[in-house]
Amino acid sequence: MKHSTQINLIHQIFDAIDRGTPPMAERFTRNDTSAYTAPDRAAREREVLFRHHPIVAGFSSQIPNPGDYLTEDLAPIPILVVRNTASELRAFVNICRHRGAKLADGCGHTAKLFSCPYHAWSYDTDGRLVAIPDDYGFEGLDRAASGLVALPVAEKYGLIFVTPAPGDSNKNTIDIDAMLSGLGEDIQSYGIGAMVHQETRVVRRRMNWKLMSDTFWEAYHIKVLHAQNVAPLFVKNLAMFDAFGRNTRYIGVRKSIEKLRDIPEEKWDLIPHTTILMNLFPNTILVMQSDHAEVYRIFPEKHVGESVATISILASEPSPKWSRTMDLLLGVVDQDFTLGEGIQHNFESGAQRKITYGRYENALEHFHRSIREAIGEV
Ligand code: FES
Ligand SMILES: [Fe+2]
Repeated sequence: MKHSTQINLIHQIFDAIDRGTPPMAERFTRNDTSAYTAPDRAAREREVLFRHHPIVAGFSSQIPNPGDYLTEDLAPIPILVVRNTASELRAFVNICRHRGAKLADGCGHTAKLFSCPYHAWSYDTDGRLVAIPDDYGFEGLDRAASGLVALPVAEKYGLIFVTPAPGDSNKNTIDIDAMLSGLGEDIQSYGIGAMVHQETRVVRRRMNWKLMSDTFWEAYHIKVLHAQNVAPLFVKNLAMFDAFGRNTRYIGVRKSIEKLRDIPEEKWDLIPHTTILMNLFPNTILVMQSDHAEVYRIFPEKHVGESVATISILASEPSPKWSRTMDLLLGVVDQDFTLGEGIQHNFESGAQRKITYGRYENALEHFHRSIREAIGEV
């Protein structure tokens, strides 16, 4: 983040603290609980946001060298991302063209060929079909047209974006900066691209994917739900929200920011006194902490009331402490997700049709309005 932006934000933060109220929207808003429970809404989201919208499929640091690959099973279409012999990223539907077996599993390094576990059709790192055992049974098959189905892929800021559905001819590229609408400059400045993937854990919950995300976009609940752990560290009900297109930047403010009042502006640094959250629309949440980054990638499951997330830690240096950091953060979000499961249950009872987003919960309104716009429900 530019220093001038930091100074500007810090002034706004001090104003809010002195005033005793956070920045607020004009009025509170409402949302329909059906957004979290209706199967047809879930189907549209799946189609638009999780098949045809680029999503973060992994981190560049996971596959730095030719032949390194990772797979993504949580998106509606199974994905294989591989760095080819020229060190360029390629992404494919992770399905064998012969009879549909899953081609590659997990992640790995220095692969030269992907050989299917079923009958051993083999593909190179550019997806070309290079071997068919006993190929006399497939005489006349057009091998050139039987390679893996390619997907749009791009990488920047250490993040790998893939569009899970095969692209049509004019949608074969992903313009990451256009998608991030200016947030890329921030991500660049935090140095996330230079951090290395340390650990990923998977969490499955009985709640709509948006409910899993919602908990990150307001600071109102912290003093209540997290009273026993993180609440004492943060200024009560204060966060700075900015929209970048459909993306979100949301800055939680630590009480330690008061120290800056005693030092000159040119020495002000926002980062150590805040937790900076970013939603990379639709489903990736990047949390910038002072010495590491946390990344949540949230996906809908087949049932509208179920979701799955990967939670990853990126940091400059490997250390056993990241595992403890992961335990601590899972302890905090477990409170959110357990409460969220109860909310999902209540929504599904049909007993309440509307929920309310307060004037200082306007990042939530932005998130849900962005989804409605993207799926053409406005
Ligand atoms: S399904 Fe892959 S080789 Fe037969
Ligand atoms: Fe929370």
